[in-house]
Amino acid sequence: TTSAMTDPFGRTIKYLRVSVTDRCDLRCFYCMSEDMTFLPKSDLLSLEELDRLCSAFIAKGVRKLRLTGGEPLVRRNVMSLVQSLSRHLDTGALDELTLTTNGSQLEKFAAELRGHGVRRINVSLDTLDPAKFRAITRWGDLDKVLRGIEAARAAGLKVKINVVALKNMNEDEIPSLMEWAHGKGMDLTLIEVMPMGDIGEGRIDQYLPLSLLRARLATRYTLTDLADDTGGPARYAGVSETGGKLGFITPMTHNFCESCNRVRITCTGTLHTCLGHEDASDLRKPLRASNDDTLLAAAIDQAIGLKPKGHDFIIDRRHNRPSVSRHMSVTGG
Ligand code: GTP
Ligand code: 5AD
Ligand code: SF4
Repeated sequence: TTSAMTDPFGRTIKYLRVSVTDRCDLRCFYCMSEDMTFLPKSDLLSLEELDRLCSAFIAKGVRKLRLTGGEPLVRRNVMSLVQSLSRHLDTGALDELTLTTNGSQLEKFAAELRGHGVRRINVSLDTLDPAKFRAITRWGDLDKVLRGIEAARAAGLKVKINVVALKNMNEDEIPSLMEWAHGKGMDLTLIEVMPMGDIGEGRIDQYLPLSLLRARLATRYTLTDLADDTGGPARYAGVSETGGKLGFITPMTHNFCESCNRVRITCTGTLHTCLGHEDASDLRKPLRASNDDTLLAAAIDQAIGLKPKGHDFIIDRRHNRPSVSRHMSVTGG
């Protein structure tokens, strides 16, 4: 079980994203429908099973692990998973253990995360306007998130802010969000909205190409392209005026699939080798079939051998249908 994972297009998988729950305490309108049905609890992997699954991927060469959701910090007892996974940092098998969170539970967990070897987290935050925040998240409390971010910084975690660019919603706020983040020494990454899941909203009304935003920003700021350093999909620019870094994640306008180094597992043990594809392999069955990882490793190899070349996202103007029926909250971005 120590063979590296390389797909048919020569891409080596070193980054595993693990959705530990499909549930969330918010309902961002581009991510979930208002009346989301969640997976039955009986389908969930236990934290011990999630640990075993992650460890099998680490044995196969994964160097970076990111917990996602839904909201990862609403999974009961998730800190015990973080703590047990941190042993792979101690042995040097893992370079980074991190998470992407909406920030609402950070006041409670920031210090513990730092204690378990987490050094850097990404926080999703699309606006600094409390009313807009409630409109986007359907009921979220902006202040709680801001307190969470401060708690993370106080605990010594490096914070990156993720902003989904939303037409007519936060597009005018991008410069002020960036100045706010950079003013606190936090990088900020902009994300193009992806057509995932039936959310009962017009995706076409939300989509804003980042090429346009970048051109707008370039009239006010000096942007200099930087070399990639996180192993994620973002391309970064330095902003001379703020001294901060601005990332662009552009699945819709620029295809970064040729250098893709990541796969995803869900809280039910399904492996998705591409975010923007219906492809799915069940790992729960081989995981539960035996305490030995041989079957599991074989199932992983088989799935990696079928990793698609790239995603299938299109903005379908005529039908306004999602390209991928799975909700973002199931795979965690
Ligand atoms: P860093 O380690 O900071 O580079 O983080 P990251 O960009 O890998 O992780 P993060 O959770 O912050 O990802 C931000 C968003 O990028 C995700 O929520 C997705 O929306 C998008 N994203 C990440 N990986 C992929 C991918 O493989 N394909 C597509 N289409 N989008 C992705
Ligand atoms: N398109 C792009 N990003 C999305 N996210 C959630 N749904 C979508 C979507 N449809 C983002 C969140 C968060 C990350 C986990 O995924 O805002 O930053
Ligand atoms: Fe929750 Fe994140 Fe989805 Fe918003 S985008 S509903 S915070 S999982």
